[in-house]
Amino acid sequence: MTIIGTADEILAELQTDAGRRAPYPLYERLHALGPVNLTPASPAYAAVANGYAAVDQILRDPRFVKGGPPPAPDADPITTALSNSMMFRTEPDHGRMRRAFHAAFTPRRVAALEPEITALTDDLLDRLAGLGSDGPVDFIAEFGYLLPAGVMSALLGIPAPDLDWFRTRVQRVEDYLDFGGRTPEKVAAANNAATEMSEYYASLIAARRSKPGDDLISALVQVIDAGDGDLTDEELIGNLLVLFNASFVTTINLLGNAIPPLLERPELVKALASDPAVAEACVEEVLRWDGTAQLVVRTASEDLEVAGVTIPEGGLVLVILGAANRDPARFPNPEVFDVERPDKRHITFGAGPYFCIGAVLARAEGRLALPRLFQRFPDLALASPPVQSAGLALRGFATMPVVLGN
Ligand code: HEM
Repeated sequence: MTIIGTADEILAELQTDAGRRAPYPLYERLHALGPVNLTPASPAYAAVANGYAAVDQILRDPRFVKGGPPPAPDADPITTALSNSMMFRTEPDHGRMRRAFHAAFTPRRVAALEPEITALTDDLLDRLAGLGSDGPVDFIAEFGYLLPAGVMSALLGIPAPDLDWFRTRVQRVEDYLDFGGRTPEKVAAANNAATEMSEYYASLIAARRSKPGDDLISALVQVIDAGDGDLTDEELIGNLLVLFNASFVTTINLLGNAIPPLLERPELVKALASDPAVAEACVEEVLRWDGTAQLVVRTASEDLEVAGVTIPEGGLVLVILGAANRDPARFPNPEVFDVERPDKRHITFGAGPYFCIGAVLARAEGRLALPRLFQRFPDLALASPPVQSAGLALRGFATMPVVLGN
């Protein structure tokens, strides 16, 4: 018999190395306790929300606040950059910046990227074939990272050779942002990374201002200079930093997390390779079953009741998207990977005012890349068990050695 324990105990287990790598049994125990659970012993959190309906309600309710004020003049570089972005600001600044981005990052711009995604996928598959011709190759480093990073470089107009430079810096910001364990070393590394990336973006903005291209940065500079976007250069830098981070630390895992469940289902892989509707269904079920964004945080701006539980004013709520996606009250047999389930409407991209701005792009990358991967390498197999990364907010594999077959 499983001992369920208290929400505080489960929350503590979630933060251990073992809990980070295998959170789903812990989510099951949270569901057994209820959709929202107070955590009085936690020094950081007042409650965890794990039920689907409760998570959805919290994300849509502006009284559960996200983000903070503009950065103080003497804030460190990482705080300054993040606090200058929509993701880390409260209303009305959040909405103001988000609108400026929407004006430039349109569905048309994403649709125009689709041929680029396909061409880049094919180039990367050629490269992978070369690397994997006589032994295992790491799918995460050699494909999972390079595709979303390449797509973002095309979108933002970042020269492709600079992507290696970005990778380590983006990771330092991600380590800083992950749930718990912010050491002085991590803070120092994130500050260096933020300084360097901010300088990089400042010079890119200056270059695009004097010679515009058809990339997103040029479009955003035009929005700023026309004065109708109500965005500053500092905010553009902060948002670019967050956008680039938010785009590929997540999509890398969408691609990676898809591989193990698909490889266990050869018939599905065949169908996926030839039928775009199956590819789309697979992407959605991967996002539900093993979503890359597992957690977000909100603060109750007053005493607020959700699912019969009162979250006290000022209390921080850990909103567990990954648990909501495995809520048995919403998804029958939630632990089963089933692309044919009639309702796969997961909450991995969030909901409400902070809903992911890149959801259409991330979905397009999965839908276009996975079929081409399996068309090219129908016998792709794991060479050894993939290694789960220790991130909890962002779930995915650190390495995944594969053999390409043939
Ligand atoms: C599988 C891929 C992705 C997942 C799972 C994901 C997930 C999320 C989630 C859960 C949020 C909301 C955070 C919250 O409510 O606190 C979010 C916001 C955001 N995402 Fe994504 N994301 C993905 C890909 C992308 C891509 C490709 C981009 C950019 C092109 C992007 C840009 C953003 C931005 C800018 C925000 C902040 C929106 C705001 O603050 O209003 N994401 N994402």
